[in-house]
Formats: sequence, structure tokens, C-alpha cells
Amino acid sequence: MSTVLYITANPKQVSASYSLTVGEEFLKAYTEKNPKDNIVRIDLYKDNIPQIDEDVFSGWGKLEGGQEFSSLNANESSKVSRIDQLCNQFIEAEKYIFVTPMWNLLFPPLVKAYIDTIVIAGKTFKYTAEGPAGLLENKKALHIQATGGVYSEGPSQDYDFASKYLNGIMNFIGVNDFQKLYIEGFSQYPERADEIKQKAITTAKNLATIF
Ligand SMILES: Cc1cc2nc3c(=O)[nH]c(=O)nc-3n(C[C@H](O)[C@H](O)[C@H](O)COP(=O)(O)O)c2cc1C
Repeated sequence: MSTVLYITANPKQVSASYSLTVGEEFLKAYTEKNPKDNIVRIDLYKDNIPQIDEDVFSGWGKLEGGQEFSSLNANESSKVSRIDQLCNQFIEAEKYIFVTPMWNLLFPPLVKAYIDTIVIAGKTFKYTAEGPAGLLENKKALHIQATGGVYSEGPSQDYDFASKYLNGIMNFIGVNDFQKLYIEGFSQYPERADEIKQKAITTAKNLATIF
């Protein structure tokens, strides 16, 4: 049995979002194939995702300086412990599904805030004399991304920063199996929107049986 984190970052309703619609179809097919797996939903627009701010730095600073956790003030302790909880949850899972829209060539900013909670030195990566090394092993990730343009091929390929970054950051912490599912071209080919969505759903269902 695997624990699967289903991580979404979209303030829209599922029915109004291509990525969430395809993501739900993926999840349905995945759950049918793997009924015993534990699916944990993380909605970055609803869940508490602390940003690394002054409280976090001062809290971390106190702990690194050898002070007890009880010496942290209320803001420091709530943010530091939530970051710890999110990082532990990520470490304990086996599979990750990121479902995001492309916004201005990247994903929504809460995805970066979430990444800042899971990429923690000593927990998910470490520095060695040869450079950084990921500490996670035997995990896999999937990025389901909806875009108005086409980024999987053609002239905009170089601008697919979101998937490239997610792939890079997953590799950085040791998640080397990274797959992508593009749902793309809604603005470029508006007349083909339904066809693009249906094709992506078929791809998602097939992928779900082997992910
Ligand atoms: C704020 C904003 C910025 C966007 N920027 C891009 C972009 O840089 N490139 C692109 O191809 N589409 C862009 N789009 C279009 C979305 O990627 C497209 O509508 C996609 O379907 C959104 O995913 P969703 O349907 O799951 O919400 C943008 C949309 C919004 C709302």
C-alpha cells in the first residue's frame, strides 16, 4: 500500500478547471486500480501553507542555537511545526501528483511556498563534498499541467518553466521518477478545447493504471 499526495493549486471549482478535471479522472482510475492506497489531498489554496518569513527564521534560529521548542513564541512555533508536519508528510508518502494551471509561465505562487516547506536540508536533501544529494528514495511524481498555449513541443518548449522546475526540485530531493501530463493549447486552439480535454482524460486514465 502506498500513500499518494494529491497536491492541487487552483482556486477554481473542479468543473471550471481543465487540470483539476483531468486530475480527478486520473485519481478515479488510479483508485480503481489501487483501492488500498491512501490518497491524501492537499489543497494549497485551502490548507495552511506557511511562507518562510521572519517568524520562521527566528524560530529556526532559536532551535539551531540550541534553545528548546518551548522557547518559540506562538507565531514561531505554529509556523515551524506546520512546516515540519508538511515535510514529514511528504517524506512518509511514496507518490506525488501535482495538479497545476500555468500562470505566467509558472505555477501559482502557493506551489513555491509548499516546495519551501518540503525542501529542507537534513530532511529531504543534504550537502556533501560533491554537492547536494537528495535523501528521498523509491518515490515517483507526476505533474498534471493545463496551459493555454502549447509547451510540450514547438517554439514555446523552452518556456515550460513550471514542469522543468518541478522536475528539477524533485530530482534535487531524490525523487527521480518524474512524469508529465500536459493538457495544452486551449487558448491557441479554442475550437479544439473539448477534444484536447478528452484526449488528456484518456491519457490520464491510461497513465493511472501504470503510475
Ligand atoms: C493569471 C493567468 C496567467 C496565465 N498565463 C498563461 C501562460 O503564461 N501561458 C499559457 O499558455 N497560458 C496561460 N494562462 C492560461 C491558463 O494556463 C489556462 O487557462 C489553463 O487552462 C488554466 O488551467 P485550469 O483550466 O486548470 O485552471 C494563464 C491564465 C491565467 C488566469
